[in-house]
Amino acid sequence: MARDRSSPLHAHDSQSTLNRSGNDSFHSIVARRISRRECLERGFLAAALGVLPGALAACGDEDEPSADEPSQAAGALTPATSPPALGFRAVPKGLDDFVRVPEGYVAFVLTALGDPIDDATPAYANDGSDGDFSRRIGDHGDALMYFPYPRASNSSSEGLLMQNHEALTDVYLHVGGPTNSPISDKTAALPRPLAEVLKEQEAHGVSLVKIMKGEGGRWAIDRGFAGNRRWHVNTELLLSGPAAGSPQMVTKLTPAGDRTFGTLNNCGNGYTPWGTYLSGEENWAFYFRRGDDAATEAVRDAKLARQGIVANNVDPAASVAPFNYRAWDRAEGGAALQLRFDCTASGASAADDFRNEPNHFGYVVELDPYDSAQTGKKRTALGRMAHEGAWFGPVVEGQPLVVYMGDDSRNEYVYKYVSNATWRAADATLGLAGGDKYLDDGKLYVARFDADGTGEWLLLAKDNPALGSFADLADIVINVRSASDAAGATKMDRPEWGGVNPLSGEFYVSLTNNSSRGTSGPAVDAANPRSYQEQRGETSQTGNPNGHILRLREAGGNGAATAFSWDVYLFGAQADADPATVNLSALGPDNDFSSPDGLWFDRRGVLWIQTDDGAYTDVTNCMMLAAIPGQVGDGAQAVVAGQATFVGKPASPDTLKRFLVGVPGSEITGVDLTPDKRTLIVGIQHPGETGTLDRFQSNWPASSGADAALTGVVNNRPRTATIAISRADGGDIGV
Ligand code: FEO
Ligand code: CA
Ligand code: CA
Ligand code: CA
Repeated sequence: MARDRSSPLHAHDSQSTLNRSGNDSFHSIVARRISRRECLERGFLAAALGVLPGALAACGDEDEPSADEPSQAAGALTPATSPPALGFRAVPKGLDDFVRVPEGYVAFVLTALGDPIDDATPAYANDGSDGDFSRRIGDHGDALMYFPYPRASNSSSEGLLMQNHEALTDVYLHVGGPTNSPISDKTAALPRPLAEVLKEQEAHGVSLVKIMKGEGGRWAIDRGFAGNRRWHVNTELLLSGPAAGSPQMVTKLTPAGDRTFGTLNNCGNGYTPWGTYLSGEENWAFYFRRGDDAATEAVRDAKLARQGIVANNVDPAASVAPFNYRAWDRAEGGAALQLRFDCTASGASAADDFRNEPNHFGYVVELDPYDSAQTGKKRTALGRMAHEGAWFGPVVEGQPLVVYMGDDSRNEYVYKYVSNATWRAADATLGLAGGDKYLDDGKLYVARFDADGTGEWLLLAKDNPALGSFADLADIVINVRSASDAAGATKMDRPEWGGVNPLSGEFYVSLTNNSSRGTSGPAVDAANPRSYQEQRGETSQTGNPNGHILRLREAGGNGAATAFSWDVYLFGAQADADPATVNLSALGPDNDFSSPDGLWFDRRGVLWIQTDDGAYTDVTNCMMLAAIPGQVGDGAQAVVAGQATFVGKPASPDTLKRFLVGVPGSEITGVDLTPDKRTLIVGIQHPGETGTLDRFQSNWPASSGADAALTGVVNNRPRTATIAISRADGGDIGV
């Protein structure tokens, strides 16, 4: 979802009030863990380095590394032991209406908003008149993944492209913009036209299309493939794990509480060791209307408020603005699938209304791209939050599986799930049954980052005495934010994507920005150490406007450990910012950036960083960089305006380079590399997002013609799209 700013469409500011727990920086916390020095002396770091390469090789594949590097979805082959060098010339910052890629590279549009996914659906007119979104590519394409086709192949010319469709740019989706929608006018007269509501519901979710490489290396959708499909807001899915069947899941449509309809605000993703796709549900909470029912159940009231769903929340004067509220529940002639977005407790019991409908969203959803007979499952054991995505730690035979996650809202938390089952390589082809075995039964933890550079994973289960007020594990996972408050987790600067370095096993997480840090929200702390004023043209922003990337190493290199060490790998900043308080990673003109969001390690150990920014956009559109990171502890302790922290080794032009710059209004999100390393697929999300029908802000991709990296002059509604990038000489990407 878009950046932290105060426009009505993207008032993430509304989220700053949600975490009212007493958890704070560790100004108030005595360092209770072993010191960083002790940690080093005990050999945790050395042990991790010594153990991991062998451990990674124990994934059940003892062959030499393949000449083809697997994509995210091509299985856990033995990685290289040292990263490659970045071999392209950095792309300059810019504000153009075309996508900049490095010299010697070409980029073509692969899929775009509204593209039909079968031969029966008409071509996209792109004038707001199109329907049939259950058979079209959705809006706001976010995380994506290339699955080689067929299953278990290593194909780099035929694959299944899975992509999340997070949200909408409503103005371009309807002929004259949305009718009676609070998204553009909080006081709009209702009801809404049902056809518009259905289009909006179906333009969210996940798409699957088979893509094929053709003449001249140009990729295209194979519309004849019978497995092309959409999951959207009205698609039936199963609930799985501890919350399935809970009384808190009972609704008028789902009285047994074991199933649900739809997936919403699909943001980041993940790939399971058994070959399926994970999709994170992020900003679902603000799609709900809630009436004046605060007095009906005090406990429920507090739980909903922790998600931002306060009573009377669609009152334009409400303190928490429902910035995604589109009044789907007020569609003229709407049925239960629309009415459920009013979660007011209005009936005699939970089976008579939709008071529990918000409990059906905010999960990691597992989908199997290769199995058209399967609908998918929400894995409730991983908790309910504004899920960004889910990223597995090193997969080791005989060891539990580890999944890292972030809750992207201001001052929310970083999580880890550890399966109770231990990994067996023979399970690599299980499909969704793998999720039943590994993702429905495990331990959920939340992170506390301590001032000495260590940290602890705090257990979110009844075994934790701090969680005595929760009824059971279902109650904990459904209300995981409150459980984390009680456990004493550290409030973070909006955890976005994560990634695990295949060379070291270390976990990285983007903390994109936080306007409330050190201002209206928590004080700075060692893991979120900056609060400053940043100038954007004539206006300024405060808090942590440029974001940072934190990384951690599990004690002993053991993913199931409850202790870790951490440092800040990289601080976002503009190159001319103060090196003592803001530009702490020594960024220069070829690698300065703001608001890291998408984060992805390819199997060579190259880290791709994508931005979703509102602070540096006076100078440059959002971008993607490539990096060769080091490891936790390769930098030094630093004191930033009085706050001590740990900063990684400064960036150099050789280890961090700008690879791509997007178009006005867009963020860059979603990335994967084909196994042959020769096609990089990247998402350009919501170009022209703040435009109007009188002024589009961007005309991309039409502005580029067929070649996404060339400019042209047109006047078309912009469309979110994916692009396929390759080298003109056919070489490996990035090196
Ligand atoms: Fe959908 Fe947190 O970005
Ligand atoms: Ca973002
Ligand atoms: Ca600036
Ligand atoms: Ca994001």
